[in-house]
Parts: sequence; structure tokens; C-alpha cells
Amino acid sequence: MVKLKSREEIAQMRPACIAAAATLNMVEQHIRPGITTDAINDLVHEDTLRRGGIPAPLNYHGFPKSVCTSVNHVVCHGIPGDRKLRDGDIVNVDVTTIIDGWHGDTSRTFVVGTPRAKASKIVRVAARALEIGIAAAKPGATLGDIGFAIQQYAEGEGCSVVREYCGHGIGRNFHEEPQVLHYGKPGSGITLEPGLVFTIEPMINLGKAAIKLLKDGWTVVTRDKSLSAQFEHTLAITETGVEVLTRVEAE
Ligand code: MF3
Ligand code: CO
Ligand code: CO
Repeated sequence: MVKLKSREEIAQMRPACIAAAATLNMVEQHIRPGITTDAINDLVHEDTLRRGGIPAPLNYHGFPKSVCTSVNHVVCHGIPGDRKLRDGDIVNVDVTTIIDGWHGDTSRTFVVGTPRAKASKIVRVAARALEIGIAAAKPGATLGDIGFAIQQYAEGEGCSVVREYCGHGIGRNFHEEPQVLHYGKPGSGITLEPGLVFTIEPMINLGKAAIKLLKDGWTVVTRDKSLSAQFEHTLAITETGVEVLTRVEAE
């Protein structure tokens, strides 16, 4: 069963969501050729603490770092390390902050230095896929409507949607019910109601949808080594539509 959140509970989630988004905006300012993903991890860790938060990924089911950094053909859950980002790389930075026991989860994919055509395309399609998913999120619509809208758009652009990982309910727990698939059929799944709080976070591949998990137990990559990009917001269904809790202006 999916539990709905009260107005008070949603209000209590806002600080974590805003902090996660602000940390991500900070990271954007530091993305340039030569920065290591470990340096991004340190920036996220320090900035999260500075905002009075806790980085949710650290030790989550044994994850060793404070943020996920997923470069090029890494789909998600990349572990920060000593790898230096190079001109033309893409990197998804996925920030999840806990404040007062509530989680806020948001990610973006950045292009490092001068974008090349393939990188620009996959980042543009993934960003748009998230916005199209959000546009489908309103009371009376279903989760399947969101997945269908994302899938139609992404496949129409000649890209593919990763099936094995999905969006999720979020609140006092990092991952709650429901699962939010980024593909599906119109009208399928639960009906959206005010108080439903969840993420949408489509992982879109330039090539085929198939993925594999590396031996580190975390890093997910495209099987065909094609580029993969992802954007994520935490959102709440309201009486009139949707509130994107992790949408903030750059500071
Ligand atoms: N932030 C990811 C998500 O969007 C989950 C990362 S789990 C971790 O759901 F352990 F890798 F951090
Ligand atoms: Co998430
Ligand atoms: Co996330």
C-alpha cells in the first residue's frame, strides 16, 4: 500500500529537497575538465553538512560515498574515484540529502567542457524526458501515464529507456512505494492523488536499453557502451497538479 503524505509532512520535506537542489547547483559551478569524481564527492559531502543535512547515499546498503557520479556509459550508481573528467565527458551527479529525517533526491547530467553532438543529444533527451514525465503527473492520471509519456518521447527520439531501475516514493525513507517506471501503458498502475510524493528519474540510453552491473556491485553500465543520461526530481501531487520539490533557482 502507498501512504499519502499530509500538507505538514510535505512542508517538512521541503528543506531537504531545497538543500539537495542547492548542492547540485553548487556542483555545476565546479564541473570542468580535470576535476575528479572524488572531488565532486567531497564538494557534495561538505556542502550537505554545511546546509545541516546528511548525505543519504553514504553507507546506504553499503554504498561507500556521499553521492553517485555516473560518467558517459555509466547509467547510474557510479562510485566517485580518482578518475579525472575530460573535455566532452558527461557526468550525472545524483544528490540525496536528509534533513530532520526527511529525504530530498535530485540529479542532473552535466557536459564537461565542450559538448560533442552525441553528448548534447542524450543530455537534451533525458532532460526533456523528465519534464514530459512531470507534465503527465497530476491528480487523476496514473503512474502508467507518466511512464508512457516518457517512453513515447524517448523512443521517438531514437533513444531507449532503462527498465531495471525506476523512480520511487520518498519521505522518511530514501526509497518507498510506489515504484515509478519510466515506461508503460496509459491508464495502468495506481491513480495519482494529492499527497503522493515520489521521484521521476528516467535513465535514457543513446543505444540499446540493456544494462549490466559491474563487479563492484553498484556501477550500472550500458551493455553496448552507448552514452546514458539521467535527470531526477522529487515531486508531490497536489490538489491542482504537481509541486516539484527539488526545483530551485540557481543561488
Ligand atoms: N539517488 C539514487 C536514486 O535516485 C539512489 C542511489 S542509492 C546509492 O534513487 F546507494 F547508490 F546511493
Ligand atoms: Co531517486
Ligand atoms: Co537520486
